[in-house]
Amino acid sequence: MSVTETRIVTRRLREHPDAHTLERYLATGGYEALRRALQMTPDAVRDEQVTASGLRGRGGAGFGTGQKWSFLPAGVHPRYLVVNGDEGEPCTFKDHMLIEGDPHQIVEGAAIAAYAIGAHHAFCYVRGEFALGIERLERAVAEAYDAGFLGRDVCGSGYDLEMVVHPGAGAYVAGDETGLLSSLEGGRAMPRIKPPFPAVQGLYAAPTVVNNVETVATLPHIILMGGDAYARLGVGRSTGTRIFSVSGHVRRPGNYEVELGITFRDLIEGLAGGVRDGKRMKFFIPGGASSPWLLPDHLDEPLDMDHVTQNLRTMLGSGAVMVFDEDTDPALVAWRLARFFAHESCGKCTPCREGSDWLEKVLFRIAHGRGRPEDLDLMLSFGQTIVPDLDRTPFNQTTICALGPSTMSPVVSLDRWFRDEILERCGADRRRIPVVPA
Ligand SMILES: Cc1cc2nc3c(=O)[nH]c(=O)nc-3n(C[C@H](O)[C@H](O)[C@H](O)COP(=O)(O)O)c2cc1C
Ligand code: SF4
Repeated sequence: MSVTETRIVTRRLREHPDAHTLERYLATGGYEALRRALQMTPDAVRDEQVTASGLRGRGGAGFGTGQKWSFLPAGVHPRYLVVNGDEGEPCTFKDHMLIEGDPHQIVEGAAIAAYAIGAHHAFCYVRGEFALGIERLERAVAEAYDAGFLGRDVCGSGYDLEMVVHPGAGAYVAGDETGLLSSLEGGRAMPRIKPPFPAVQGLYAAPTVVNNVETVATLPHIILMGGDAYARLGVGRSTGTRIFSVSGHVRRPGNYEVELGITFRDLIEGLAGGVRDGKRMKFFIPGGASSPWLLPDHLDEPLDMDHVTQNLRTMLGSGAVMVFDEDTDPALVAWRLARFFAHESCGKCTPCREGSDWLEKVLFRIAHGRGRPEDLDLMLSFGQTIVPDLDRTPFNQTTICALGPSTMSPVVSLDRWFRDEILERCGADRRRIPVVPA
């Protein structure tokens, strides 16, 4: 299988061990895109470059980047740009690599985004555990100030921009855009009800754009190659490249930047080497812990955001592809994921707070041989208090943020693909008394 990566945002860091330094960044064309963007009007950057490129957010929801920027109300200032580097979705490790490996690319991308939306303040919110990443990004910001790429009169253009790096607060919900804004303001990272959306009332109640690290890191390349040229990469409305973090039972786990439209097989077998130790695959999770699972039968499906959502009833989400071999117990995986969601629920909405805890307990007993025959259907029926229509993707929800519906992904996946297996083991063990994990 001869599939190769298409390296755009990962190229510099793959080719140069010192890609995090300003010297290397400048020697490889760094900050040229910012100079060019500053010669355009902000609207031209947004419409003729970013919207034309078809770029969609790489943080999970896949919303059109230029479209999101266009929601900012005209004439309302101040306004802010926030770069989301919280990267809390299990098995997602692409932003970590970009922050550590090529921090100036994020500074430059953030400066382009801030200019395009008319912001004079940008905040980079980085997962607190990324100690080296925070150190390198802070150094990159300081160097950019010294070199005239940040601060007053950026590159002599008359445009002013202040940039701050903020360590994250250590919670999965701090990655949700409104949870992040609460955290940035100094509060607990609790998500807020939308509307109002951040574009209208975000940080300090001012219009705010929140964009993922990879989204922002792509912007200099869009300016350099031109929005139309970028749009020619990829498939359908999934333009360009994306970094997929492949983990689990594969021979070569890691981050792979590929042109959208290649198949899961190209990614998992071609690039990540397939299932290790000569074993067969049992299932894989295509887009982070929040996404419903797929089977080996789906390996020839394309990495196309719309196709995966509409036809496979799951999502490419954060780009974390987790592979499980034939020896894996799907109930144990479902329980482990449920435990993560229950632990990370912020507790603000009743269906998520109570439901995630309860689902974890039921999945625990199924995974540990104490399930009841009715457990799976009970979870599905109960789950409708969180996700009213489990057949619709993306999941609709009764909760404030998308963590609530994510708790149902493992349950829906067990029902879709392993129902007989689960029912059989629940039936066989129904004499046992259910227990609750300590
Ligand atoms: C519970 C939860 C956690 C999230 N974590 C992240 C994260 O770590 N990084 C991220 O970029 N987006 C995360 N998101 C999505 C953000 O809310 C937001 O959609 C994203 O940062 C927007 O950037 P984009 O348009 O560039 O994709 C999370 C969402 C939820 C509901
Ligand atoms: S869905 Fe869960 S994590 Fe999100 S706001 Fe509600 S309780 Fe908090």
